Amino acid sequence: MYPFRNDNVFLRNCWYVAAFNNELDAGPIERVILDEPVVLFRMADATPAAMFGICPHRYYPLGRGKVVGDSIQCGYHGFEFDGRSGSCVKIPSQNAVPGRFRQKIYPAVEHGPWIWIWPGEPELAHKDLLPPLAEIGVLQPDWRVDHVGLLPTAGRAQLLVENLLDLTHVAFLHGAFVDGAAFLQHPVEIVEQPLQLMAHRQMRSAWVAGFYDLLFGPQHRFQGSHLAETQTVFYSPGYIRTNSGVIHEIEGRDSVDRSVFGEVRFHHILTPETAQRTHYFSTMSRNYRLDDNGYSIAMGKLDYDVRMQDVVAVGEIEGNLQRFSMHGPELLARSDAASMRVRKRMQEMLDAERL
Ligand code: FES
Ligand SMILES: [Fe+2]
Repeated sequence: MYPFRNDNVFLRNCWYVAAFNNELDAGPIERVILDEPVVLFRMADATPAAMFGICPHRYYPLGRGKVVGDSIQCGYHGFEFDGRSGSCVKIPSQNAVPGRFRQKIYPAVEHGPWIWIWPGEPELAHKDLLPPLAEIGVLQPDWRVDHVGLLPTAGRAQLLVENLLDLTHVAFLHGAFVDGAAFLQHPVEIVEQPLQLMAHRQMRSAWVAGFYDLLFGPQHRFQGSHLAETQTVFYSPGYIRTNSGVIHEIEGRDSVDRSVFGEVRFHHILTPETAQRTHYFSTMSRNYRLDDNGYSIAMGKLDYDVRMQDVVAVGEIEGNLQRFSMHGPELLARSDAASMRVRKRMQEMLDAERL
């Protein structure tokens, strides 16, 4: 079953993040996505363009060229290709251009703080398949958005999907940063909708030492228990969000002060680079302490350190998958329920693509 079959790796009809939106400000960039070289740039009106990234003349990387109006100009002999149509619009050494030639173009859109591309059939690239910005928590002025970075991951994207859908690993893999005991004690509930699957937990526990000190500040420490809800929401193979927990109630208080006990959203953007490597884009957003730059830096460091533990783990797992043959069935537990449902969804999507 997916994701361990070698002939069945990429879902193409899906929006994937190709870049953080601020990456294109300084000129074109090149990035391998689903095993294809892609050049990304902004056209004259700032609209993003995504094009097959190897020049069809002598195969120089188009990402080393420069933007001229709506076109990318190759840095080798100066041929220019239009960002909307892929037409060759200029060959500097001659007057004529080949009328019918088209370089491959990918549908591309700036949506929220990211640039998305659609590697599959262009006519299926509907914008309503993108995650809704208000719902995921990146719309200003209510949310502050910080990009933490792009984490190159030496493992297939599905390993990160399954990492995020089973947060019992927090207690062990991230035990140095977060006391994850509550994840083991409270069962996950799964809510399925046509365009998303949410795995969430209601957890009653005490102040989480270390993690809450950083998240809310030690001066706001409270005695007694509180009820928090953590969520992992799968929108597509390319986008999953988690959160720091929403505090619903604190023992002995009538209400929860949202300016102190706000919510941090962790956006997990998973774009396959190859069958066994992933571009893992890390973005955070939060709905409190919006002007606190120092807080962004501190949270960004925590986010980076925690995600790097996942990146290293996934690299180890991928190494095992490639090096050794796995004998016997997988040993699955209750905590794998959300992952198994997502695997089933993804297999159905892959099967539908092949019809
Ligand atoms: S290789 Fe691009 S113009 Fe010659
Ligand atoms: Fe993790």
